[in-house]
Amino acid sequence: MTSTPHIDPKGVDIAETILLPGDPLRAKFIAETYFDDIRCFNEVRNMLGFTGTYQGRPVSVMGTGMGIPSISLYSYELIHHFGVKNLIRVGTCGAMQENMELYDVVIAQGASTDSNYLQQFDLPGQWAPLSSYRLLEKAKRVADERGQRTHVGNVLSSDVFYGADPDALGRWMKMGILAVEMESAGLFANAAAAGVDALGIFTVSDKIGSDVKTTPEERQTAFTAMIEIALDLA
Ligand code: HPA
Repeated sequence: MTSTPHIDPKGVDIAETILLPGDPLRAKFIAETYFDDIRCFNEVRNMLGFTGTYQGRPVSVMGTGMGIPSISLYSYELIHHFGVKNLIRVGTCGAMQENMELYDVVIAQGASTDSNYLQQFDLPGQWAPLSSYRLLEKAKRVADERGQRTHVGNVLSSDVFYGADPDALGRWMKMGILAVEMESAGLFANAAAAGVDALGIFTVSDKIGSDVKTTPEERQTAFTAMIEIALDLA
């Protein structure tokens, strides 16, 4: 397949391992900061994608947009039309547990969701979207070696950013959900259905129920740690 409705690589390869930030300009920044031999593989809808090498190994990075519908269509095309095998979402999350600090790294072992995306798989019950244990175990090991504070567990992939029910997050919190973001459950479901590996790594950009603001410098440092852990998985 040379192109899909949303990805037109114009002959540029897409690597088997891809980092997936929500923001396409962040994809560009990651490529320009970390990759050698960079080639752009997608400009459709400005959802920029790049392939290069990191420490000699081929790797790609591409924006996904926000929310399960957006990451799901891009990840589907990457998996089914371009042979991508390891999909690593990198992003921010809102921390939901007391022991979590701004800029901590969260590694998603699973992704609960208020989305209906999983309905399509027509399972006779509730299926738990999990990340790849192979990628999870390696990411945790790399983070520990760097002395990075991490939390590993269940995140919430929510369709709702500005919610009408102020108590909804509290109920998820009581079930041990570490943090809220908006994409991983769709990514993990697509990966599982296709038999490939996916992971989500996040930095805590805000704490739910607190209005502490982060500075761009602080965000950049935390972002760097997360990206370097993800790149070590390539
Ligand atoms: N909600 C959803 N996604 C997020 C948040 C949040 O509070 N913070 C960072 N990503």
